[in-house]
Amino acid sequence: MIVPTNALFKHAYGKYAIGAYNINNLEQTMGLFQGNLQSKAPFIIQISKGARSYTHKKMLEAMLKTADEIFPDAVFAVHLDHGDEATCLDCIKSGLYSSIMIDASHESYDKNVEITKRVVDAGHAKGLSVEAELGQLKGIEEDIKADDHVFTRPDEAVDFVKKTGCDSLACAIGTSHGAFKFKGAQKLKFDILEAIQKLMPGFPLVMHGSSSVPEDEVRRINYFGGAMKDAKGVDENSFALAAKLGVTKINIDTDGRLVWTRVHREYFALYPENFDLRPVGKVFMAEYARFIANKNKKLASAGQLDAVREFCKASKK
Ligand code: G3H
Ligand code: 13P
Ligand code: ZN
Repeated sequence: MIVPTNALFKHAYGKYAIGAYNINNLEQTMGLFQGNLQSKAPFIIQISKGARSYTHKKMLEAMLKTADEIFPDAVFAVHLDHGDEATCLDCIKSGLYSSIMIDASHESYDKNVEITKRVVDAGHAKGLSVEAELGQLKGIEEDIKADDHVFTRPDEAVDFVKKTGCDSLACAIGTSHGAFKFKGAQKLKFDILEAIQKLMPGFPLVMHGSSSVPEDEVRRINYFGGAMKDAKGVDENSFALAAKLGVTKINIDTDGRLVWTRVHREYFALYPENFDLRPVGKVFMAEYARFIANKNKKLASAGQLDAVREFCKASKK
């Protein structure tokens, strides 16, 4: 059942966070649904601009519609990750998406407000909720590079939400995209979330760049020929605190890519005579499902499925 993202946030706020998982292909889609059903968790499927053009946006959309049909117990939202204005408008038109993210965080404050407000108006007119971003994560986001963290300013966040009407806000607190997030110990600024929550109690926040880059995955990748030196992610034990401070959505893409890489490197090293894509695909789907189910336990979204389904049905009436 595809549900409004806002309904998921309302149910989760202050108690747990919803896993927002990026997918690109069929095997990820199957593993994602299976893992969420195994752990009885609601979830958000994230589609990036890159994912939409990897094969064809309609191929992804058709796959998600079919997944909704063949997994009738699943409760999920479909979300555009890091959209520009044109992509947001295209997703609004598609009729499949529950929500979109407009990312104009690289623009000046006033321009970010202006673009975000236009997308919010267009999204709300069609019943979609809109995530925006204020502050910037260090590193590369789609094709835009930031050399350092630009932390979100709580006072500015209040003004931004008031001016744009956005439904949720991605905050920069020291995470970054990819597999190399910290040199040394993790440094996250939870005081930013705390201050925003005090100023806007009940308003849903989003944590990007939240893969945990498990040491064991990296070790196995490197053992079978990978070259990922000094990879480091976010401590999964931080998710509970983040959820308490108003984070309702936690974005995870890199970890899924690591599972894919580990499975394929390991499989073909162990079975060098094999050239069939299905046996390794089966291993990946099962391993990805296992990863998702474990992640949902850390997010505390595991076990919420039945309650969320009832909540969404009741809020539709
Ligand atoms: O924030 C970026 C996401 O991890 C999506 O990555 O643009 O390579 O699909 P992508
Ligand atoms: P990771 O690179 O940490 O998985 O972050 C993904 C993300 O924020 C997608 O928007
Ligand atoms: Zn992101």
